[in-house]
Amino acid sequence: MTAEDKNIRILVLGGTGHYGQHIVRALLAKEVAVRVLSRNKEKALKILGENYNLEIIEGDILNEEMVRKSLERVTAIIIAISAFNRKSIRQLRLIERDAVLNLFQLARGAKINRIVYISVYEKPVPETKMETGRIKLEVEDTLERSTFDYTILGAPPSIEIFFSLIRGGTLRVPGGGPSALPNISPIDLGEIAAQAALRSNLPQKRYRLTSPSAPSFPEAARRISDEIGRNIPFRKIPLFPFKIIAKLAGFLKPVMPYTAQLLPFILLLNDFESEVKLQTITDYQILQETFNFVPHTLEDHAKLWAERGN
Ligand SMILES: NC(=O)c1ccc[n+]([C@@H]2O[C@H](COP(=O)([O-])OP(=O)(O)OC[C@H]3O[C@@H](n4cnc5c(N)ncnc54)[C@H](OP(=O)(O)O)[C@@H]3O)[C@@H](O)[C@H]2O)c1
Repeated sequence: MTAEDKNIRILVLGGTGHYGQHIVRALLAKEVAVRVLSRNKEKALKILGENYNLEIIEGDILNEEMVRKSLERVTAIIIAISAFNRKSIRQLRLIERDAVLNLFQLARGAKINRIVYISVYEKPVPETKMETGRIKLEVEDTLERSTFDYTILGAPPSIEIFFSLIRGGTLRVPGGGPSALPNISPIDLGEIAAQAALRSNLPQKRYRLTSPSAPSFPEAARRISDEIGRNIPFRKIPLFPFKIIAKLAGFLKPVMPYTAQLLPFILLLNDFESEVKLQTITDYQILQETFNFVPHTLEDHAKLWAERGN
């Protein structure tokens, strides 16, 4: 597929989200017709803006009729949906698993063969205790067993994590974080996913997305400080209270389902192996060989962060 082909129409599920909105922007920049299914059209328009190539269908992925409507005349689907938030966490399985597997069936019926799935960085292991990991694994396995022309993009934490943990001018991290944290600029993820959806010659496989460097949090604090010319100190917050609460996750789940599911992620943040630094170098090389993009670095994002008045 090429962007010149006027019959192309890409459906982006999760097109208003942290990653999805950049996928939509990258597609629109290539003059491709994009359709977004969003539960709130007004909010979607505020995030994405008006564009003659953009169509927003108001609807829920849990509503099969709306999904069928979204699939009409679509050539490829990008799935960047997430229910990992306070409001939707109780419907995590329904939205991220059941609705996505049902979408695959409906896509078959609609003769759509190209699917790009945004997943988590590493393919989860079957023993994972995290529900979201088990869901991602099942969806990935379904795609791998299917005859779809699929690409799985394993997304690490957004590069914005280095900024979202700055409170009161200090980068505060529970447990201090790992020695190397793979991360990706949401702008680069958007570009890679857009190119993947438009390509018809990609092998059916999984790519781990990463930016050129995987810094530790103290290293990130130094680089951000150097870039913006103001000191952003780093502080390690004790991890043990999180560990204790995590042990109670089973009891917490019915009353505080979001906190119960979030805690393992906070612990995971300290669990990246040191070899990850070398792995990201190889992963990044593969991305550079496969896709055409100029990466947005931590320094680029530091500049943007400062420009936003921080
Ligand atoms: N953010 C990260 O740092 C990160 C890290 C690793 C992996 N990932 C993966 O990246 C993917 C996208 O995550 P994200 O953080 O970008 O998500 P996000 O910002 O939380 O956005 C979620 C998106 O899903 C849509 N959505 C949720 N429930 C829906 C429903 N019932 N019907 C229709 N749309 C629904 C929302 O659309 P509306 O609200 O407009 O309806 C929104 O566009 C996920 O697979 C996630 O696991 C993210």
